[in-house]
Amino acid sequence: MRRQVSFFAASLSSPRRTGALAPSSGMLGRAMARAAGASDPAKILEFGPGTGTVTSKLIEAGAREENLTLVELNPVFAHLLADRFPLARVISGEALAVAEALRQERTMFSSVVSSLPCMNFPHEFRENLLVKSMELLQPGRPLVQFTYSLAPPLPKLPTVRVTRTRRIWANMPPAVVWSYRIRLGSGQGEERGENAG
Ligand SMILES: C[S@@+](CC[C@H](N)C(=O)[O-])C[C@H]1O[C@@H](n2cnc3c(N)ncnc32)[C@H](O)[C@@H]1O
Repeated sequence: MRRQVSFFAASLSSPRRTGALAPSSGMLGRAMARAAGASDPAKILEFGPGTGTVTSKLIEAGAREENLTLVELNPVFAHLLADRFPLARVISGEALAVAEALRQERTMFSSVVSSLPCMNFPHEFRENLLVKSMELLQPGRPLVQFTYSLAPPLPKLPTVRVTRTRRIWANMPPAVVWSYRIRLGSGQGEERGENAG
């Protein structure tokens, strides 16, 4: 209940950044975890985890809490996440700025899972999200992004392969989960990936 109330309060004070009136459903969380290949024990980076619905489904699917990095702009949610997932690395900050810091740390991930309300942000933000996520991913591994929109949430790039799920009607509003992966052989991201820790 605390989570629902915090989320509703955030959606009233920052509607564009919060992007919904209520936390994601368990069904959407499970679809995100499946698309991320969350049973893989390697590191997962989550952007915009909010109250942690998707995070909890990543863990249910087999991800280890200590291998999760959660990046959340809203400090109320960041506190809530740190309480709820004490073993995870919770970073209270802006997704693109944190992505750049992680790149400089040379931290690599097996999946990037984003609940950011992308369609509320300009094209440039969405392109940067895609490019910066690809830089942080091991070769062939996915960036997973959901959207309520009919259109794909992120721009097309020739070096990136895109797949999507069917619309999840049980979520409110109904959502589609999109996955983005570097095309192996495209040359991009492979050099860093070989050195991935
Ligand atoms: C649609 S909500 C995520 C809901 C979440 N799946 C849940 O069930 O609670 C989007 C989240 O992205 C966060 N957010 C928005 N812009 C952000 C940014 N630039 N960097 C990091 N987090 C951001 C919001 O604060 C919000 O928690």
